[in-house]
Amino acid sequence: MTAEIIDGRKTAQEIRSQLKQAVAGFSDSPKLAVVLVGRDEASVIYVRNKEKAAAEVGIGTDVYRLAEDVSEKQVLQLIDRLNEDVAVNGIIVQLPLPAHLNVGRIIGRISPLKDVDGFHPYNTGLLQNNEKPYFVAATPLGVLKLIHQVCPVLSGKNVVLIGASLIVGRPLATLLLNQECTVSITHVHTQNIKNLTQNADIIVAACGVARMVKKDWIKPEAVLIDVGINRENGRICGDVDFDDEIEKAAAVTPVPGGVGPMTIAMLLKNTVDAYKLQHNI
Ligand code: GUN
Repeated sequence: MTAEIIDGRKTAQEIRSQLKQAVAGFSDSPKLAVVLVGRDEASVIYVRNKEKAAAEVGIGTDVYRLAEDVSEKQVLQLIDRLNEDVAVNGIIVQLPLPAHLNVGRIIGRISPLKDVDGFHPYNTGLLQNNEKPYFVAATPLGVLKLIHQVCPVLSGKNVVLIGASLIVGRPLATLLLNQECTVSITHVHTQNIKNLTQNADIIVAACGVARMVKKDWIKPEAVLIDVGINRENGRICGDVDFDDEIEKAAAVTPVPGGVGPMTIAMLLKNTVDAYKLQHNI
C-alpha cells in the first residue's frame, strides 16, 4: 500500500477561485496591510508570495517595509494608523520580529476585527473557550481542512503535534481539542516523542527539523501532516521523512505542495471575511 498524497495545491486553488468570485461581487477591493520589519530572508519570500496570491484574487496589499532597527513606538504608531484606516480590512505583522521588539505588545495593538492572522489574545482567547473568534490563524485552519479531507470524523482521534509555536502548534491544538481530539503537544523539551507518535492516528510536524519524523515513529495507517519547510542540499524538504514513510502511512502531505499553499489561501479567506465583517455582508 502507498499513502494517499494530500494535494494542498489543488485545495488551495479551489479556495482561491471561490474567493476571486466573491471579491468580484464587492463594490471595492479588500485590502491587506502587511508590516515587514527587517530583511529576514524567509519572511521576504513569504510576504512576496502573499502579495502575489492576494493580487490574483483581487485583494490589494500595502506592504510597510520597516528598517531592522525601527523602534517599537514607531511600529505601534503605524498599527494605530492602520487600525483607524477604513480602507484597510486586515493587518498582519510578519514574524519573527527582531529581538528588541515585543511581539505580544505589537500583536496586541492590532484591532481584533482586523487581526487576519488570528494571533491577537482576544481571538485566541475565544478559540480557547470554544467560542467563535473573528479569525483563526491561517496555517492551523489550512491543516484542519487537509486533515478533514482524509479523516472526516475527528472525534476521539489521538493527535500528536510536534512544535508548540504561537503560529501553528498552540492554535492547532485548540482547534483539534474543540473537534474532540485527544491532543498531545510536544516541543524541544519533550522526552521520548517517539513513544507518543507511535500511538498517534494523526501527526502534525511543525518543528523545523528536516526529515525528523521517521518510519519507526509512526503506526501503520497514520495520517501525516508536514508543516516544515527546510532546505537540505539545495532542496526543499519537510519535517517528515516522506520517502521513508510513504509505504506505511495512510495519507501524507508533500513538501512543497501540501500545507504551504493552504496557509496563503486561508489568509486570503480571512481577509475576505474581514472585508465582509466590516461591510456587514
Ligand atoms: N511567519 C511565519 N508564518 C507566519 C504567519 O502565518 N503569519 C505571520 N504574521 N508571520 C509568519
